[in-house]
Amino acid sequence: MDQLFPRPVANLDPVELVAADTRTAPTDRPWVLVNMVASIDGAIEVEGRSGGLSSRADKAMFHALRQLPDVIMAGAGTVRVENYGPVQLDADAQARRVARGQQALPRLAVVSGRAHLDPASRLFSDPTQRPIVITTTTASSDAVDKLRDVADIIVAGSDTVDLRAAFAQLREQEVKTLLCEGGPTLNNQLLQDDLVDEWCQTIAPVLTGGNTAQRSTTSLPQDARSLQLARVIVEDDVLLVRYARES
Ligand SMILES: NC(=O)c1ccc[n+]([C@@H]2O[C@H](COP(=O)([O-])OP(=O)(O)OC[C@H]3O[C@@H](n4cnc5c(N)ncnc54)[C@H](OP(=O)(O)O)[C@@H]3O)[C@@H](O)[C@H]2O)c1
Repeated sequence: MDQLFPRPVANLDPVELVAADTRTAPTDRPWVLVNMVASIDGAIEVEGRSGGLSSRADKAMFHALRQLPDVIMAGAGTVRVENYGPVQLDADAQARRVARGQQALPRLAVVSGRAHLDPASRLFSDPTQRPIVITTTTASSDAVDKLRDVADIIVAGSDTVDLRAAFAQLREQEVKTLLCEGGPTLNNQLLQDDLVDEWCQTIAPVLTGGNTAQRSTTSLPQDARSLQLARVIVEDDVLLVRYARES
């Protein structure tokens, strides 16, 4: 229980903490870790973006988690609204990754069923960091061809992206850890396909009201995935929890 006991994150080094966790990738896909922030009552954005719910502790954890994976994945909706750019890590973080046998920087992977991404956007602005676009056979070939100049393309699935098939391809490329930064549409697909091994959740100390529809579920599936509580941290009323599958 000591490991779970709430401690102020200011007294901890979140980078050391999350790097010490065990994450064992299955043979057919990477270990999948989701990181999200929400209000007490479950809102995940304020005026369209998650920044309004963030805090010092949440940012520290967000950046610490970004140092871990081989791939950082996000849905196209999140990438568009949050104006994603190339991943940046300082020299120490890059050196730690290389010492662990990883690439100096994680690759970005964007899930877009329609391949609806602007090749001129910030996401593709660094030719030394080609993102991966994960799309479907029904995406317009024009849109996919335009993205081929600036990204590596994985095609998996027809109506929606077949994440399990896409992850199998990533695993063949030695991707062992994948951090998903949302949003909810992509997370839902991950959950439906039972692809989540770890969930890191920040709870911001605010009540928001707002749209409740996206938080409802018709029933709890019989095979609902249970994860174990692996860490609890508190700072200034902000709660940061880690749930994980046994690895
Ligand atoms: N609180 C948090 O921690 C947090 C984190 C992330 C995002 N957010 C918020 O979430 C909101 C965005 O929500 P969202 O649900 O639109 O985000 P999203 O899941 O990032 O994006 C949805 C889009 O991603 C693509 N996509 C996702 N899953 C797919 C699948 N299985 N197959 C094919 N395409 C798939 C589709 O793109 P195409 O339309 O291009 O086909 C879809 O329209 C924003 O307000 C953002 O700020 C909050």
